[in-house]
Amino acid sequence: MTPRLDAGQLAARFQSVFGAAPDGVWQAPGRVNLIGEHTDYNEGFVLPFAINRTARVAVRRRSDSTIRLLSTFGNQGLTTVDAGSLSRGTARGWTKYPLGVLWALQQRGLHVGGLDLLLDSDVPRGAGLSSSHAIECAVITAVNELAAAGLDTREMVLATQRAENDFVGAPTGIMDQSASLRGAAGHVLFLDCRSQDIRLVPFDADSARLVPLVIDTKVSHSHAGGGYASRRASCERGAGILGVKALRDVGPDDLDAAAGRLDPETFRRVRHVVTENERVLQAVKVLETAGPAAIGPLLDASHASMRDDFEISCPELDVAVEAARSAGAVGARMTGGGFGGSAIALTPAAAERQVRAAVGLAFAAAGYAPPEIFSVRPAAGAMRLA
Ligand code: GLA
Repeated sequence: MTPRLDAGQLAARFQSVFGAAPDGVWQAPGRVNLIGEHTDYNEGFVLPFAINRTARVAVRRRSDSTIRLLSTFGNQGLTTVDAGSLSRGTARGWTKYPLGVLWALQQRGLHVGGLDLLLDSDVPRGAGLSSSHAIECAVITAVNELAAAGLDTREMVLATQRAENDFVGAPTGIMDQSASLRGAAGHVLFLDCRSQDIRLVPFDADSARLVPLVIDTKVSHSHAGGGYASRRASCERGAGILGVKALRDVGPDDLDAAAGRLDPETFRRVRHVVTENERVLQAVKVLETAGPAAIGPLLDASHASMRDDFEISCPELDVAVEAARSAGAVGARMTGGGFGGSAIALTPAAAERQVRAAVGLAFAAAGYAPPEIFSVRPAAGAMRLA
């Protein structure tokens, strides 16, 4: 597991690197999506939660326009750039995320000037848990406060989306940063991606004696690659042919008619989005009436839809989900953008050991590298630590 520095340790490290104390330390979490995949950019519904793994940033404003960045992870040394020369395609590695945020703020007319930044994170990178958004959300929360920019969380969500879309080059939606900025301990975030309205829905896994287990397949993925963008393009094509603003506007009753108007592949993509939106709405109802143990079948149906209709799973994710389920998980599905990354298995505490063992054995039997398996819980959204 990645070590993490607490706020005091990070501030001390900052002082020794930059020769002065930081103005403050902020943190923002990664996320797990419980259900509602590839619905966000279709203006639909999602149900993610912020997790107890965070990125932390110590920041100090400078009187010039120099930006100096360093992280405790990765092998990039100190990076120095001028705030006046930020442009797309110039940043490397993890520096794309903080610099993308500063660039996006500049596009809104906010010129922050120079900064020293030291970043730490224990959100696993490349695992589909939004380690990049955790960094972006920690940085924007810090800068919003230091520069007294006065952005509310909805505006910060849109600014980080701009950073991802136009600076990093990943055509992603608003789910991850919404979870990171607006999540709350003990709750999942029911987000309407058209209005950005949220409802916090209690998700008390402990009382239900359930453990949300993340199975990181170690298959790395990138949303700046082709698969994510091509799914998004299919959805836009489907919405165009069906004459709606976004697939959010297509309901389950419209699917029969849609089948006759779309080519088979586009139809399957559309069917995933339409049925997934329904599953999110049902999951909220089930959580509010029957509690977490009852959402298993919805998680399973979501995985099948992503595997067969949206075609974004991979053999390792399917093996993880099947093994977890056969060993006693109440439901399991891949989480995040797909093509690798992690699955989530909602597991009775009494079956946790069997599930961990069964997934490990299934990976070994298939000849895959061992996955990393750990539990998560719904945790607070972005905040100032010191
Ligand atoms: C990634 C993106 C999100 C969302 C998911 C799929 O995590 O960043 O915006 O589209 O994939 O649900």
